Amino acid sequence: MPRLQDKIALVTGSAHGIGLATAQLMAAEGAHVYITDVDGAGAEKAAAELVSKGFKASSMVVDVSRGQDVTALVRSIEQQHKKLDVVVNNAGINVRTDFRNMSDADWVKLREVNLDGMIRIARDAFPLMKASGKASLINLASIMGHRGMRTLAAYGATKGAISALTRGLAVEYAPFGIRVNALAPGFIETALTERVLRIEAFSKALIDQTPLRRFGTSEDVANAVLFFASDESSFITGAELAIDGGMQAAL
Ligand SMILES: NC(=O)c1ccc[n+]([C@@H]2O[C@H](COP(=O)([O-])OP(=O)(O)OC[C@H]3O[C@@H](n4cnc5c(N)ncnc54)[C@H](O)[C@@H]3O)[C@@H](O)[C@H]2O)c1
Repeated sequence: MPRLQDKIALVTGSAHGIGLATAQLMAAEGAHVYITDVDGAGAEKAAAELVSKGFKASSMVVDVSRGQDVTALVRSIEQQHKKLDVVVNNAGINVRTDFRNMSDADWVKLREVNLDGMIRIARDAFPLMKASGKASLINLASIMGHRGMRTLAAYGATKGAISALTRGLAVEYAPFGIRVNALAPGFIETALTERVLRIEAFSKALIDQTPLRRFGTSEDVANAVLFFASDESSFITGAELAIDGGMQAAL
């Protein structure tokens, strides 16, 4: 039997990249997937492709940094399904600049999506996750929440906060049957990393630091999301899984 049969799943930022691969995998495993993104046309296209294959999917324009968008999303799922079994807090951005030159506007933008957005989804979707009786919330943290790299200090600060949020919520939400876990990807080939991974010397240095000697794919991350979403991880909460080819383990 498919691992997410009859489950209702929400993935933020799922028109592209890791979110899209995750939504596609969860739909193939039987879930009704809500594909939501600030890129409404991309979300609609992704959902239409899944529906054309016989899977269950809906799309909605949701900018997670806008409270009213999240409220409308939660209301829509409540009206249609009355519960949420899986929530993947995935939408994230990076503003790549030397820390000392970062403007207030850049920092606010980063924080509003990567931190405020995830906090808002985790809070506002609570009643629907509680109604599931057995829900799983999965947050996309990052290796950068634990390791330092030039131009990634502010991004890393938002991601380190997500790791902390995951542990705290795991404790607070457990009595309601909601598990909360995080994933900490290393370098995954998506639009987010495309520009820097094209720099040959940088790219080679990263591969040299990665014991498995390659970058990750969106599917590598999606497979781990599926594990946390399914009953196979039913005794795991408050955990964070590195998906980085061994990069964090290496000296
Ligand atoms: N790619 C990596 O190497 C990597 C590593 C560690 C963590 N992550 C995290 O994984 C998540 C997904 O990253 P990705 O690599 O797939 O990025 P991506 O840029 O390929 O995709 C991000 C998606 O989020 C959407 N988005 C951006 N701002 C949004 C907003 N305000 N509201 C809703 N949607 C929004 C984008 O339109 C896009 O579809 C992010 O949280 C990122 O920080 C990625």
